[in-house]
Amino acid sequence: MPLHVLVLVLFLFLIPIITVTPSPTLSLSTSPPPPLSLPLLAPIRKDHTTLRYTLSAYLKTPPQRLDLLLHLGGRFSWVDCYSGGYSSATYRNIPCNFSVCVPLDSLACGYCYDRPAGPTCSNDTCEYFPENPINRKVGLENALVDALGLPSTDGSSLGRVEVVPDFLFSCAKADLLAEFPKGTSGLAALGFSNVSLPELVTEALSLPRCFALCMSGSRSAAGVAFVGTAGPYNFIPGIDLSKGLTYTPILLNPQGDTVITYAREPAAEYYVGLTAVRVNGKAVPLNATLLAIDQESGRGGTMISTVLPYTALQTSIYRAVTEAFAREASAAFHLPATRPVKPFSLCYSAGDVASTRAGPAVPAIDLVMQSEDVFWRVSGANSMVRITRKGTDVWCLGVVDGGAEARAAVVIGGHQMEDNLLQFDLGSMRLGFSSSVLLRGTTCADFNFTTSDHT
Ligand SMILES: *[C@@H]1O[C@H](CO)[C@@H](O)[C@H](O)[C@H]1NC(C)=O
Ligand SMILES: *[C@@H]1O[C@H](CO)[C@@H](O)[C@H](O)[C@H]1NC(C)=O
Ligand SMILES: *[C@@H]1O[C@H](CO)[C@@H](O)[C@H](O)[C@H]1NC(C)=O
Ligand SMILES: *[C@@H]1O[C@H](CO)[C@@H](O)[C@H](O)[C@H]1NC(C)=O
Ligand SMILES: *[C@@H]1O[C@H](CO)[C@@H](O)[C@H](O)[C@H]1NC(C)=O
Repeated sequence: MPLHVLVLVLFLFLIPIITVTPSPTLSLSTSPPPPLSLPLLAPIRKDHTTLRYTLSAYLKTPPQRLDLLLHLGGRFSWVDCYSGGYSSATYRNIPCNFSVCVPLDSLACGYCYDRPAGPTCSNDTCEYFPENPINRKVGLENALVDALGLPSTDGSSLGRVEVVPDFLFSCAKADLLAEFPKGTSGLAALGFSNVSLPELVTEALSLPRCFALCMSGSRSAAGVAFVGTAGPYNFIPGIDLSKGLTYTPILLNPQGDTVITYAREPAAEYYVGLTAVRVNGKAVPLNATLLAIDQESGRGGTMISTVLPYTALQTSIYRAVTEAFAREASAAFHLPATRPVKPFSLCYSAGDVASTRAGPAVPAIDLVMQSEDVFWRVSGANSMVRITRKGTDVWCLGVVDGGAEARAAVVIGGHQMEDNLLQFDLGSMRLGFSSSVLLRGTTCADFNFTTSDHT
């Protein structure tokens, strides 16, 4: 029973040639443009079963709280519109001739004959291809706009919820949520795209095109995402993490990596120009070809992912880094390796490892960017993973082998980002990073979520 009759052909696995035609901008709302507003924020929680992160937001009218998988490399957000029905006074479908549909972000125009009209059934309606970034399954679903709500912030505390009236996302069926944290109902896309959550929010509220993530590894306390501000980002006890950041250019991979690719659109993932890795101050010899993005094939380079729990290194880099780490841990920290625990290959008895403000005392790993003095320092809290089970208590080097044919040579994963502040400045295409904020006497769980009435 076909739910959709596609007017445009479905270009599965093909790169369509699309002629860019002038098209109207999205203006489904008749209300006047909103006044200048404060930046917004969203709590980020970690799910300790899937080791993935969720972002909380309000959607629909009346507002309903949703937890969405945080996907730093996502092109557009999507939400399960089927489970329990979709009920909202403010949703609208998008006609196929609107700019967000034609020419670049959708390839399909849908019609619906077999059900009553509603969010998931309408004619001349723009359709998107929502993708699960973990198992790479794809749907074909109506795009919608609806009211998105996020709390405003002065950078220090929580203000009242601001509404972005025409927030664009795709519907999806519940089966696209496979392997997502329990209780999530979709995906929040923060990637490089005109229709990502930060771009839509900052555009709608005339805020700077800048967002920041401070992910907490804590079981109980949330971390925070700031949207539409380059700072301040104040954490208890009064530490502004927008100060003292190190900057490196954000790079893009010209070859998209979603199942459905979009002509002339780069991948939505953020890359950085890693040029070297140092362990305990000593450079690890690496294949430089792998560290650059191959513009033709899209292979190589260093990507940042919130969907991968641990940093994945291409096999030759993985071997070089783990060997260097084992050597320095032994020579400089007198740590004998013990039996490894999967998925890791280098572990130390917890009893042998001293502790510091930034986690276990182990050799620091520096991710060196465009010059020797621009590096992201990965301290013990971010390089090591504690594994405690019956008869075992070890700290393991928390990186995994990404395979000899890995697409990106280095994928920096969630564990390595926790208690680090990362600022994505899309206006100037640069990444600001703090390295471990534990060394500055705070954590990503130390944002003051107590509501104040500063608005
Ligand atoms: C889109 O197409 C419809 C029907 O052809 C037309 O009435 C409408 O004006 C177009 N929308 C815009 C915003 O151009
Ligand atoms: C779409 O158009 C067809 C043909 O005009 C009509 O039968 C159908 O009911 C319409 N569907 C909706 C959801 O309006
Ligand atoms: C976003 O839109 C602008 C202007 O329409 C365009 O120049 C730019 O290439 C678009 N970027 C993406 C990622 O779609
Ligand atoms: C470096 O990597 C490239 C790309 O995979 C490969 O072709 C080349 O042989 C490697 N060089 C060395 C010295 O291993
Ligand atoms: C958190 O914010 C509230 C409201 O602004 C304030 O009363 C409280 O003192 C703050 N807590 C800390 C620990 O700074």
